[in-house]
Amino acid sequence: MEELVITGGRRLEGTVTVQGAKNAALPIMSAMLLATGECRLRRVPHLQDVSVMAAVIRSLGVRVERSGQDLLVTPEARLTPEVPAELMRQLRASNLVMGPLLGRARYFRVPYPGGCAIGSRPMDLHIKGLMAMGAEVTEKQGYIEARTTGLRGTNIYLDFPSVGATENLMMAAALADGVTNLHNAAREPEIVDLQNFLNAMGARIHGAGRDTIRIEGVKELRGCNYKIIPDRIEAGTFLAAAAATRGDVLVQDCQPGHLLAVLAKLREMGARVIIKKDAIRIQGTGRLQATDCKTLPYPGFPTDMQPQFMTLMAVAEGTSVMVESIFENRYKQAAELRRLGADIRIEGRVAVINGVPALSGSVVEASDLRAGAALVIAGLVAEGQTSIEGIHHLDRGYEQLESRLRNLGADIQRRSEK
Ligand code: EPZ
Repeated sequence: MEELVITGGRRLEGTVTVQGAKNAALPIMSAMLLATGECRLRRVPHLQDVSVMAAVIRSLGVRVERSGQDLLVTPEARLTPEVPAELMRQLRASNLVMGPLLGRARYFRVPYPGGCAIGSRPMDLHIKGLMAMGAEVTEKQGYIEARTTGLRGTNIYLDFPSVGATENLMMAAALADGVTNLHNAAREPEIVDLQNFLNAMGARIHGAGRDTIRIEGVKELRGCNYKIIPDRIEAGTFLAAAAATRGDVLVQDCQPGHLLAVLAKLREMGARVIIKKDAIRIQGTGRLQATDCKTLPYPGFPTDMQPQFMTLMAVAEGTSVMVESIFENRYKQAAELRRLGADIRIEGRVAVINGVPALSGSVVEASDLRAGAALVIAGLVAEGQTSIEGIHHLDRGYEQLESRLRNLGADIQRRSEK
């Protein structure tokens, strides 16, 4: 296994370029199953999750080739609507094939992807919506099986604006007979990107980014050429690292409009934020100040930035309160931050963080992707050396993280664990 070894205390300075959004690429790769022609997807990051999703859609009967930052996907004549269990277990987002398979093959049988480090991750909203469109769904022996004689447009109200359920239902409705209105839909930028991709294939979808999405079913979807949006969480992670180290960093090729909640919190904590057309410059102005934060569905503060901000709060002046309202078990990084000297108390969904003047290096372990990012930021500011184990989690969502941080001045190396 590999680990990251960081010697803290260096200010981050310079420019970093944001890659394509993992959480836009994954649903769009699944949406390619709906196409009858070749699709070229541009600005696709080289990530473990993208490789697994490529293996998933390959197993269903499409050819996937990587060409630099592009993916070329060519559908075969017939889809094999069953996903191998070992692939499904590697990537929860592979549940996003349900909508396209039902829409295109009128059948799917997938193993339950199960929970992960941050929560049980049920799929009741996905299944309820698919049934409302005319699917017969059964769950047995750890599998979900669904069949339909043809999906019909209908009105669906989502009890919670679930990102994945919104995406699955948009893709299922794209080829359904009639109009589907998705009420209380998720409004994330990745939902808008999926709408724009599907419309580039000939779908008729409007309203993504607002709370009701209207999908008018069409008969067929063709291939297309599409560039995905930049990764707002990767951009936010670099911004947080720059603020924590009191550095001066230009985060370029990003969409500042996707990060308004994060930028507001960084300013509240005392960082100087300069917004440009497709870049953000952040400058530290001394020790960060405590603030309070609650994660919410977009456009609220993103849960995927919660662990990184817990690290900022851990070294800020004063006491901060974090409320994680999206996932029931997303504070795994707290125990590891305590090993570095952080003063954090967890009561259910509430975390109280008393800022300390400095963290001190130790050996810690990443439990999931964004908790790992929080530990990297902690290592950048801790006194002495920090070793982070379990960094395969980081490779799922950050491309060449350590070399890009090194280019900004960090003292960080990837090593094989002793
Ligand atoms: C997406 O997960 C993202 N993943 C997550 O990013 C992100 O944290 C999450 O949205 C919230 O923004 C991808 O886009 C691949 P949800 P998803 O359905 O779709 C509950 C990362 O780090 N829920 O919006 O699984 C669920 O339990 C990952 O890149 C139900 O109860 O999130 C959770 O508490 C981590 N029933 C809440 O909704 C359902 O049927 C939000 O889940 C579905 C969800």
